[in-house]
Amino acid sequence: MKSEKHILVIFGASGDLAWRKLVPALFDLYVQKLLPAQFAVLGVGRSALSNDEFRQKMAIGVEQFASFKHKPRETVDEFVKYLNYYAFDTMNGAEYAGFKQAITLLDAQVGTGGNYIYYLATPPSMYSIIPKFLNEQGLHDETHGFKRLIVEKPFGYDLATAKKLNAALLGQFEEEQIYRIDHYLGKETVQNLLVTRFSNTIFEPLWNRNYIHHVEITSSEDIGVGNRGGYYDGSGALRDMVQNHLLLLVGLVGMEPPAVMGSTSLRNEIVKVFQSFRPIRQEEVEKYVIRGQYTPSVIRGKQQKGYRQENGVASESRTETYVAMKFFIDNWRWAGVPFYIRTGKMLPTRVTEIVIHFKPTPHHLFAGNATVAGSHNKLVIRIQPDEGLLFKFGMKEPGGGFKVQEVNMNFHYTELRDTYLPSAYERLLLDCMLGDSTLYHRGDAVEAAWAFVDPILKAWKENPEIPVHGYPAGTWGPDVADNLFDEPGFSWRYPCRNLVDDGN
Ligand code: BG6
Repeated sequence: MKSEKHILVIFGASGDLAWRKLVPALFDLYVQKLLPAQFAVLGVGRSALSNDEFRQKMAIGVEQFASFKHKPRETVDEFVKYLNYYAFDTMNGAEYAGFKQAITLLDAQVGTGGNYIYYLATPPSMYSIIPKFLNEQGLHDETHGFKRLIVEKPFGYDLATAKKLNAALLGQFEEEQIYRIDHYLGKETVQNLLVTRFSNTIFEPLWNRNYIHHVEITSSEDIGVGNRGGYYDGSGALRDMVQNHLLLLVGLVGMEPPAVMGSTSLRNEIVKVFQSFRPIRQEEVEKYVIRGQYTPSVIRGKQQKGYRQENGVASESRTETYVAMKFFIDNWRWAGVPFYIRTGKMLPTRVTEIVIHFKPTPHHLFAGNATVAGSHNKLVIRIQPDEGLLFKFGMKEPGGGFKVQEVNMNFHYTELRDTYLPSAYERLLLDCMLGDSTLYHRGDAVEAAWAFVDPILKAWKENPEIPVHGYPAGTWGPDVADNLFDEPGFSWRYPCRNLVDDGN
């Protein structure tokens, strides 16, 4: 489906996000003929770049990062003609009149009928400033053409700042105009969670406390903070990954079936899950939430930095690069079912997966099926990489007697011939162009997610005695995270071994 004619304004266009993600995603849309004929990008930034300089820089990003492997030079050259650049100081309200002139002129040239999408790819401190100045120029007004605003994460720093930001945005734009991005919702496999659950009869009847023992979600990365130390040190894994991406996955696993597939219906169900999280009280934080920080190690003979040695990180930093936690959803479907989630940097591998652990059979007939932990069915939903679905179940081991062996039914997306998996930004940009906010967060969901993590942040801040456990880079995080499982025989799933312990 092609979107309506419009101008996409990228604030912060000289930054990393535009170059690595946004413009390459636009190129991929262009190749698939999904951009409208009357379309232009207006990059905005403080650096003084000409249109040509901007186009050249973006062409390099397209070459490197666009998903389509086949990029003939002439296609890239044609595509970059859509790109324009306007330099001004977005902090200075007086300069927005010039910006208005520039966009009006471009609109007249391209014929986009006053349809504008503003993408805030700027530091978060600008999120409430830019919309205010746009509003002052009447550039929020939808009398002539639509006006949409995409806001990147982080959306707030805690509950209070998220509320403040929501209020500031809603003072300038209507909720329907605001698109709060979470790139996890743009991932094909995350959307597939909905299809897996709601297009098959076999899962939904089992998807509840009667048959599910616990749910486990892991999002691990095998890299450190790289050149983002300055940002990350003020954030940490709880804010950076849990409050948004991981809780979103919990929302999709935990939600009731929406009545229809539309933004209000779907987002209502996600919010209900968030509002049913059993709050972790400040005094419970040490028991239910484990934080860790990677320390120096040697991986495959190579010395690996610890977090505190990274650029931009304070030498005594207590920022967590790992979080593991256990919590409950207090509603009819999930009463008593523990959810275990964990995320971390510098772990042994990059994997995001959701594991649904079904309850063991009520009575054990067969040898090998006698231990609870080994014998239950597991559905592993692999978000990335090696996207797909793995179902683990018991089969008779050939030979005498009745010995049970765990076997796999395994689906890989790569088995779908000629399947192109669009990047998250590609999908989300297209949705915004189509005016579909289903895969964007609503303000109340963001606040509900913050309300859940806020007491944890407070406890950590107010009780320095809650430990930040060191874990050697390349291992699966602090061992104490295993203690979150209090039933014998249960623990985290380890998709691969510790790099450091392997000694290779
Ligand atoms: C971002 C975080 O939102 O998500 C990063 O800020 C993290 O720290 C990234 O690396 C992970 O995204 P993905 O798509 O690689 O799982």
